[in-house]
Amino acid sequence: MPVSTCTLGGEVQFLPVLLLLLFLNAVMGFKLCPSHCLCYESSDLVDCRSRGLTRIPSSVPHGTWLLDLSGNKMTEVRSRSFTGLWSLKILLISNSISVTVLKYFQSLSSLQFLERLDLSYNSLQKLPEDFSESLSSLQELKLDHNLLQHLDSTSLGDFENLRKLDLSYNNISTIDIRAFDSLSRLIILNLEENKLNVVRDQLLSRQQSLEVLLLNHNNISVIDSDALSPLRSLVLLGLRGNKLDHIRFKTFLELHTTSTHLQLSSNPWTCDCELQRVFGKIQRVRHLRVLDYKEIICHAPPQQAGLSLSDLDSQLCMAETVSVLVITFTVLLAVVGTLMKAERNRKKKLIAMETESQRQEK
Ligand SMILES: *[C@@H]1O[C@H](CO)[C@@H](O)[C@H](O)[C@H]1NC(C)=O
Ligand SMILES: *[C@@H]1O[C@H](CO)[C@@H](O)[C@H](O)[C@H]1NC(C)=O
Repeated sequence: MPVSTCTLGGEVQFLPVLLLLLFLNAVMGFKLCPSHCLCYESSDLVDCRSRGLTRIPSSVPHGTWLLDLSGNKMTEVRSRSFTGLWSLKILLISNSISVTVLKYFQSLSSLQFLERLDLSYNSLQKLPEDFSESLSSLQELKLDHNLLQHLDSTSLGDFENLRKLDLSYNNISTIDIRAFDSLSRLIILNLEENKLNVVRDQLLSRQQSLEVLLLNHNNISVIDSDALSPLRSLVLLGLRGNKLDHIRFKTFLELHTTSTHLQLSSNPWTCDCELQRVFGKIQRVRHLRVLDYKEIICHAPPQQAGLSLSDLDSQLCMAETVSVLVITFTVLLAVVGTLMKAERNRKKKLIAMETESQRQEK
């Protein structure tokens, strides 16, 4: 017969001991491992991956610094469930939550020393308003591969220590202009693969420390002209796969950084002289560099579609120059023509007058 866990019957005499253990666990964090989980006491890791759990197990040892709850089927996540886990630094709940809205994430205590939280690959549609309230030490938050649609002004409001925020692969189309206001230490912001249409002025006004801003594969057609100006530390700006057909030089000139790399390919560029000039100017600014300039492909006008902007070199502006020259030449010809005509008329008149006077003299 396999060794099994407690069967009631003959164990009744151990009940007081069991109660004492539970009491000790509650009071001092006595080391009991939650059933179904593996506990590595020497390193204080608790591994509850893919155990079919529907809620956060109780009796997680109080000294735990990493708790892995990925791959379960939680129907409820209340941070109250983590009460007493003062040492918890890393909490992984990826691909594990079967509700679309987290409720009551805040609690009186518990997670205020947490540094990393992974909530990726769930189906969250909304963050609770109090989401960041007790997570003031958090440095890295992964929320990628969820179904978030909107970021409001409060749910990220207390993440003053956040360095990395991954919101990629969601369905975000709108962000409150104040949503990132408290994230002044942010270094990496990943918003790839969302549905953003515009980068607004003020949205990134507190992100002086931001080094990497990934906006690839959204639906961005407009970047407000001062939107990038607060980003003093930006090293990489990804704007591949959006809906940009034109950009303004001023928008990028506002990047007062030491060196910023831009990714701008896979946009429906309208290749005209204006666009060529803007790219030309950006390339000449010492601290800006378009990493994928060779892959900037024209989408319009039809005669340029499919061609690479770099192959067209200065042709677009050449055509413009040629048409300016043609116009100038035409105007010049007209002027010369008029002058010659006037001169001819004057001569004709003179001759007429002379013959007239000669006739009178006869
Ligand atoms: C994404 O958001 C839009 C509204 O902006 C909604 O209609 C759509 O159903 C969402 N898609 C998913 C996969 O949730
Ligand atoms: C993407 O942007 C275009 C404008 O460029 C807009 O017409 C369209 O509705 C947007 N699509 C989504 C899914 O927001």
